[in-house]
Amino acid sequence: MTPDASALLRWYDHHRRALPWRSLPGQRPDPYAVWLSEIMLQQTTVKAVISYYERFLTHYPTVQDLADAPLEDVLHLWAGLGYYARARNLHACAKRVSERGGFPDTVEELLTLPGIGAYTARAIAAIAFGRPVVPVDGNVERVTARLNATEEPLPASRPLLARQAALLNDGPVAQSRPSDFAQALFDLGATICTPRSPACLTCPWQTSCIAHARGIAAQLPAKQPKQARPTRYGAHFLLHDSSGQILLRTRPPTGLLGGMDELPGTEWRGTAWTDEEALTHAPCLTDWVRRGEIRHVFTHFTLYLTVYEACLPHGHNAGIDSSFGTFRSTKRAALPGVMKKCLALTQQTPETP
Ligand code: ADE
Repeated sequence: MTPDASALLRWYDHHRRALPWRSLPGQRPDPYAVWLSEIMLQQTTVKAVISYYERFLTHYPTVQDLADAPLEDVLHLWAGLGYYARARNLHACAKRVSERGGFPDTVEELLTLPGIGAYTARAIAAIAFGRPVVPVDGNVERVTARLNATEEPLPASRPLLARQAALLNDGPVAQSRPSDFAQALFDLGATICTPRSPACLTCPWQTSCIAHARGIAAQLPAKQPKQARPTRYGAHFLLHDSSGQILLRTRPPTGLLGGMDELPGTEWRGTAWTDEEALTHAPCLTDWVRRGEIRHVFTHFTLYLTVYEACLPHGHNAGIDSSFGTFRSTKRAALPGVMKKCLALTQQTPETP
């Protein structure tokens, strides 16, 4: 049974969240704001995104401004949001949109742009252009699994949930307000149909929810048990020159933290490094002081890094091999969260942009 779209939209009209990228009722959505927020919201929470979103809009009020900005500045402003390939795609996409004179307004054309996959194309098409499509993110998957009492665990159930979710807007009421309908689904998932303790008593779709009727809403969607996250270890070197700059190198453009800056260091491997072994990878022979260890959790592994620090005497920075990087100020660096943690150990905290 298709749940009642008018009940959801009525609920949304009273309880919609005020979000900076969201247009007010009666206002025309800004495709740039919708696209920027959706890229930022991939894999990140609304709470974490808001300040970044506002900083981006202040620096780059239009998609042309973003397209014209140097990539380095964009990465710098993005640093901390994670998944830096997204920031590169963001910039590449802004250039394409700027060249073609605006965002395309169909799912098919949106899918041809860098960084825009099935979910994001649908979200932009529905929210910005009123296309009657249902974007399926984790929130919408959860709502769908509960409405249908789909017990097959994620991720195997994903295609089934996508087919079920596509039926949610089947009907003239949902299709008359596609933008609100998509955002209402997000808000329902974020505020009522929450992962652990759903507020079923206040849910506008309570009476059409099979999981609620069976008393199993909080258990769904089921998840396949995760493989344990492996642990990796590395060592990084914070080397100051006499003018207050530090040795920084840029990571390769693709792969994990692609194009971001880092302190030079060892590879990240499955076994811990002894101090003696780690120091054979230092940029130079000097009196390194072990500052401690940080822990950082990536999607696919947990990383432990030991940080060593040293200062070069005046005039001694010429002999360092360029493979270790160059002496720079952290103010102009695109430092990922993991490197900010390393610097924080040594009180060399970089300024947030
Ligand atoms: N999650 C993903 N996209 C969203 C949006 N536009 N509003 C609120 N939450 C979201």
